Amino acid sequence: MLNLSGKNALVTGIANNRSIAWGIAQQLHKAGANLGITYLPDERGKMEKKVAELVEPLNPSLFLPCNVQNDEQIQSTFETIRDQWGRLDILIHCLAFANKDDLSGGFSQTSRAGFNLALEVSTYSLAQLSGAAKPLMTEGGSIITLTYLGGVRAIPNYNVMGVAKAGLEASVRYLAAELGPQNIRVNAISAGPIRTLASSAVGGILDMIHHVEQVAPLRRTVTQQEVGNTAAFLSSDLASGITGQVLYVDAGYEIMGM
Ligand SMILES: NC(=O)c1ccc[n+]([C@@H]2O[C@H](COP(=O)([O-])OP(=O)(O)OC[C@H]3O[C@@H](n4cnc5c(N)ncnc54)[C@H](O)[C@@H]3O)[C@@H](O)[C@H]2O)c1
Repeated sequence: MLNLSGKNALVTGIANNRSIAWGIAQQLHKAGANLGITYLPDERGKMEKKVAELVEPLNPSLFLPCNVQNDEQIQSTFETIRDQWGRLDILIHCLAFANKDDLSGGFSQTSRAGFNLALEVSTYSLAQLSGAAKPLMTEGGSIITLTYLGGVRAIPNYNVMGVAKAGLEASVRYLAAELGPQNIRVNAISAGPIRTLASSAVGGILDMIHHVEQVAPLRRTVTQQEVGNTAAFLSSDLASGITGQVLYVDAGYEIMGM
């Protein structure tokens, strides 16, 4: 049975009730995990308030600001985990960012600054958070990130984010190889397109969803809950033999040639 009771899980990337991370947090909670939630702080504290209200029913025992571009916030997040939990078992990396201008038109027009920003937030952050989590995963662990098919195929408008996801999937393999001897597993879930704040920045996202609904074997796209269920499975001992993998939760779209 899927049972995460006694496990400490840090979930990043909740912005609102459409966030994939919200679907994941709900399923981890249902399976009995003790949750820590991070949010991206803004100057007026709007995000803090919004996310705090949303996650309240899940009774997180930690609720912390963590902008992955801010080394001090990352350090303080993991120090708090060490001091209050003593041990971390599950890390959910469910965040990405690119400038909207870089998510339409030609990839060759991506600016240096836009490229660096997308790769720093969306790709480097996995290595950085995993490095901070490593000393706290003293009884093994499971690290899960979110990727998209645009990392292995050219998807219209996905552009720099496709390059970021290709780097993210390679990072999963390198981290799995490094952390495996410590019984820390590292995997990615490649989700089908879902309407969220981040995906709405990608040009033509609704057309992408419509296309998947017509072509995918299951004739639909997926829900945050389905991604959450897979994340709960990968977090659990039921997945103890799986590491370094990219698991498609996309209603089967990835297998189709036409
Ligand atoms: N929605 C989709 O169709 C889809 C498909 C496959 C993969 N994904 C991936 O799923 C993940 C979650 O995205 P989502 O679709 O749920 O959208 P979302 O907008 O709900 O989540 C993105 C999150 O990234 C956070 N974030 C951005 N910059 C940050 C920073 N500097 N520091 C910390 N957090 C930061 C935001 O606060 C937000 O919570 C992303 O990696 C995305 O690429 C999404």
